[in-house]
Amino acid sequence: KSPLRIGVAGLGTVGSAVIRIVGERAAALEASVGRPIIVTAVTARDRSRDRGVDLSGVRWHENALSLAADPEVDLFVELIGGADGAARLAVEAALAAGKPVVTANKALIAARGQDLALKAEAAGVALAFEAAVAGGIPIIRTLREALPASRVTRISGILNGTCNYILSRMEEEGLSFADCLADAKRLGYAEADPTFDIGGFDTAHKLAILASLAFGTRVDADSIYIEGIANIESLDLATADELGYRIKLLGVATRTDAGIEQRVHPTMVPKRSALAEVMGVTNAVAIDGSAVGELTLVGPGAGGDATASAVIADIMDVARGAVRAPFGISAADLEEPVRAPIRTH
Ligand code: NDP
Ligand code: HSE
Repeated sequence: KSPLRIGVAGLGTVGSAVIRIVGERAAALEASVGRPIIVTAVTARDRSRDRGVDLSGVRWHENALSLAADPEVDLFVELIGGADGAARLAVEAALAAGKPVVTANKALIAARGQDLALKAEAAGVALAFEAAVAGGIPIIRTLREALPASRVTRISGILNGTCNYILSRMEEEGLSFADCLADAKRLGYAEADPTFDIGGFDTAHKLAILASLAFGTRVDADSIYIEGIANIESLDLATADELGYRIKLLGVATRTDAGIEQRVHPTMVPKRSALAEVMGVTNAVAIDGSAVGELTLVGPGAGGDATASAVIADIMDVARGAVRAPFGISAADLEEPVRAPIRTH
């Protein structure tokens, strides 16, 4: 069968991991989908940088737009990041050219998810973003495909690996906020601009995407109450500890009688609760649904390999020919969310 030829834009933490794993597991991926999956072309800013992966035989494009337009690219994989600029333009160009898109870009999906989904649906191609929320946890497909019998009333959890890593190491090892953030950057967990992590914005992007899938409403990142962890000090963690709590950055979206409430803020959770046990870069997503009850998925929330795992799952879906509505129902049918007043503290 003909190979699926992939173009990868962005060769950083996630992009290079995707290329390495697609190469290492080529035979297993082919056996699973029934056709070879090959990386045929790539782009990044700096052509001379060693990516630690074998790019021999892979064509280089000067920019993401030309990669998206390459007639020998069947699937465009966007791993650049950012809600605007090159990532958005290239994703739009790929969809306009009738090509499926796989992306890990939560900022883009949170800002323009419905619009891009409309474009993908009009073109009859996939727009897949499993890696955009909670790294390696298959939360998008769980919400989109596995819970048809349930009316979801609440979705919540620890959605940012960098913040959980920082809070965990500050508490467990007594390290400073700055040292933990530096390690999170070095390990590839943090966003290119870590303000998105510690300011709570990355959690908000993910929460908005989850709320859309869970409630069948338009992605509504603008209505989220956001407070990050930048002001959390060791003393706060020690005080919480004395009282029997840990501090976690939570994202919570709830369907209330007054509408949908979405908020992101540091929260004291009892040490004996399941969420308090979630340490390091791990994420946890809890779903409350009418039939399923409470379901919690826990796993690696950031990092190259874990995120590549989710990207590759989407690539395999495309290789199999699956074209699903990106938000579970047609983007044209997503309801306008009624915004509930935010209750805090
Ligand atoms: P990196 O910063 O490590 O990599 C970004 C890549 O994009 C780099 O290779 C960079 O090139 C390239 N790039 C930047 N600007 C352009 C441009 N204008 N044109 C072409 N290429 C460009 O980011 P990550 O790999 O960490 O993240 C990629 C995406 O995945 C983001 O959307 C992020 O939010 C998301 N994500 C990341 C996770 C993680 O754990 N890191 C987890 C889940 C999602 P160069 O290398 O030459 O500078
Ligand atoms: N910066 C993000 C995090 C990457 O730390 O969770 C995964 O989305």
